Amino acid sequence: MKQLNYIKLEFPARSVNEGFARAAAAAFAAQMDPTMEELGDIKTAVSEAVTNAIVHAYPDTVGVVQLRLRALEGDTLEILVRDRGRGIPDVKKAMEPMYSTGGEERSGMGFTIMGSFMDGLKVRSAVGRGTSVTMRKRIRAKAGA
Ligand SMILES: Nc1ncnc2c1ncn2[C@@H]1O[C@H](COP(=O)(O)OP(=O)(O)OP(=O)(O)O)[C@@H](O)[C@H]1O
Ligand SMILES: [Mg+2]
Repeated sequence: MKQLNYIKLEFPARSVNEGFARAAAAAFAAQMDPTMEELGDIKTAVSEAVTNAIVHAYPDTVGVVQLRLRALEGDTLEILVRDRGRGIPDVKKAMEPMYSTGGEERSGMGFTIMGSFMDGLKVRSAVGRGTSVTMRKRIRAKAGA
């Protein structure tokens, strides 16, 4: 799909940056004229992916998180969240509802939420090399627009 516009951001994997990433995604998505509901879905999905990079990817260091957003032809928003952290040994298992290595405060629902709020979700990961989460959302044409 042809790319119409994009942004790339990079920030340290610190929880203070989660809100920024979410707001940046919403600000970029605004050009595609989403509904409030679509915008909410986008913010939630970005928040889950970025939170994962912050809490799971770098156990002992403060690594780098990349966020890339692309507006594609066909009213499609593509979101990439990438880290160069520890990676996921079994992606299929990690994506199952309620699977978590994160302890008590995690419910293991992040990937499930991303999958249900977006129209496409692809996770690539290599142990010791990092994880990239690519999501796509179709921003539907508005009646009367
Ligand atoms: N970027 C990442 N780097 C390394 N491991 C990850 C990453 N993202 C997810 N994981 C692994 O996949 C598991 C499932 O992630 P998911 O977001 O679904 O649940 P969670 O983060 O454990 O809990 P919740 O998102 O509900 O707080 C995590 O527990 C972790 O083991
Ligand atoms: Mg999570």
